Amino acid sequence: MTHSLKLAPSLLSADFANLERDVRLCESAGADVLHVDVMDGHFVPNITIGPLVVQALRPKTSMIIDCHLMIENPDAYIPAFAEAGADWISVHVETCRHLHRTLGLIRSLGKRAGIVLNPATPLEFAYSAAEHCDFILLMSVNPGFGGQSFIPSFISRCRSLRQYLDSHGLAHVEIEVDGGVKIDNAAEIYQAGASILVSGSGLFAGDLTENMRLMRAQVNS
Ligand code: DX5
Ligand code: ZN
Repeated sequence: MTHSLKLAPSLLSADFANLERDVRLCESAGADVLHVDVMDGHFVPNITIGPLVVQALRPKTSMIIDCHLMIENPDAYIPAFAEAGADWISVHVETCRHLHRTLGLIRSLGKRAGIVLNPATPLEFAYSAAEHCDFILLMSVNPGFGGQSFIPSFISRCRSLRQYLDSHGLAHVEIEVDGGVKIDNAAEIYQAGASILVSGSGLFAGDLTENMRLMRAQVNS
């Protein structure tokens, strides 16, 4: 199964004084997914967005809202993000003591559940939970900030994970990539098996509509 490309602009690179404007711009440019980075200042050294912002943006867009929780104790906040209108909720395996229980909680609230692995976290963490996931997010930077450089070992990790999923009856589980995704590496990333491409600085620097068009064209070329 080859998944179709989904572009997911990261809200972290938007103008926080003009979030509604930038969300509408993403949607009119043809974005499939709005990626929302939730950081708590504990799991990652930065603080960003909470459920109130998701709730405020929900009526402004029909894009899929994808909440990437970079927070300790995600179980305590998952219901609030679900209530606020998130469609997809992903949790870092490094933060979950009882991962299957957490994924069950997300699904019990009617949301698509994902796990996230930092670049140094062994893929075995994904293998043991993959059947309980709708998607798996492989970080291609260490989380916490936008604008960092893509870590090249992502490509072989992504290929290995795609191969594992396809050979274990889990071809429907999509791989998402996050960090340092640009127009010029998008095609290689998609070919390695990731179909949901998060990009912040790569899309928001300059003309977002044109950048999205170019990124799609690179993947399709
Ligand atoms: C990093 C976040 C990313 C970030 C990506 O911790 O999870 O979603 O916004 O930004 P770029 O695309 O600029 O690397
Ligand atoms: Zn993210």
